[in-house]
Amino acid sequence: MSALGKIVVLGAGNIGGSLAQRLAEMDVAAEVTLVDIVDGLPQGKALDIAESAPILGFATKVTGSTSLDALSGADVVVETAGLARKPGMSRSDLLEKNASIVKGHAQALRAKAPQAVAVVVTNPVDVMTYYFWKQSGLPSNRVFGESGTLDTARFRTFVADELKVAPRDVTGFVLGTHGDTMVPILSLTSVSGVPLARLLPAERLNAIVERTKQGGGEIVNLLKSGSAFYAPTAAQAELVRAVANDEHRLVPAAVHLDGAFGERDVYLGAPAVIGRQGIERVVEVDLTPGEWDAFRASAKAVRDDLAILAKLPP
Ligand code: LAC
Repeated sequence: MSALGKIVVLGAGNIGGSLAQRLAEMDVAAEVTLVDIVDGLPQGKALDIAESAPILGFATKVTGSTSLDALSGADVVVETAGLARKPGMSRSDLLEKNASIVKGHAQALRAKAPQAVAVVVTNPVDVMTYYFWKQSGLPSNRVFGESGTLDTARFRTFVADELKVAPRDVTGFVLGTHGDTMVPILSLTSVSGVPLARLLPAERLNAIVERTKQGGGEIVNLLKSGSAFYAPTAAQAELVRAVANDEHRLVPAAVHLDGAFGERDVYLGAPAVIGRQGIERVVEVDLTPGEWDAFRASAKAVRDDLAILAKLPP
């Protein structure tokens, strides 16, 4: 028996396709459905993934659809739809276009699967998660965004490369927005419990922090068209699995802050415990004065984008 009945992945681009594959291979749901407006794309990718089941051994049924009716009965919905960045664009440049897509999907979710947990990955993700929450009418614990899990994975990769240790032994948190003002928390980063500051000189650490902040842009510049999807979908699949298996994982995610970290009515990356009902609780951590400044700057960047959204026609 799979943990979940149905996962719906909205958007069958590079992210949606790769995510559907990872979720099918994890075997956490009876069905994974890809949805996209481009006829043939979700059906084609779904069939292609389904045809790998005999070799890989997963039982998940993978289907594709162009209709939002596919949302009916969904336990988890992942919003990936929207435009991706091109070289030179910031995530905020995607704001207006992606907001109109997210709005339609959130309203369809409200009508067809109000019991679902929604994970938003469309950029700019902190803002789109807030917007999805508002438009869906779901309780805020059942809407969260993927951000810090990806940024932290990048940070962990760079630290592991530098120290020549296994990437999985590096743990840490990148908080704040999934954007240029993200906040890697060095005091919470260690290699199997050994604090990073004991292992790396400050200037190397700073270089890794800077590379992490530009991590998404580094891939965009290399690919020249499209943005990253392998590491993003690994992060998203980890979050969905935490919900599916009620794992109570403590990971960074874009969550609704209502007093935690001194912020209210904003979605921002923070450490959170994730299980079957979504966000179980936000875990507050000590930050250095510099990290607080960076966290506040992150919140301001998200609020600036929310203000732009508020001016859009309804
Ligand atoms: C990135 C995009 C997906 O960080 O935001 O790669």
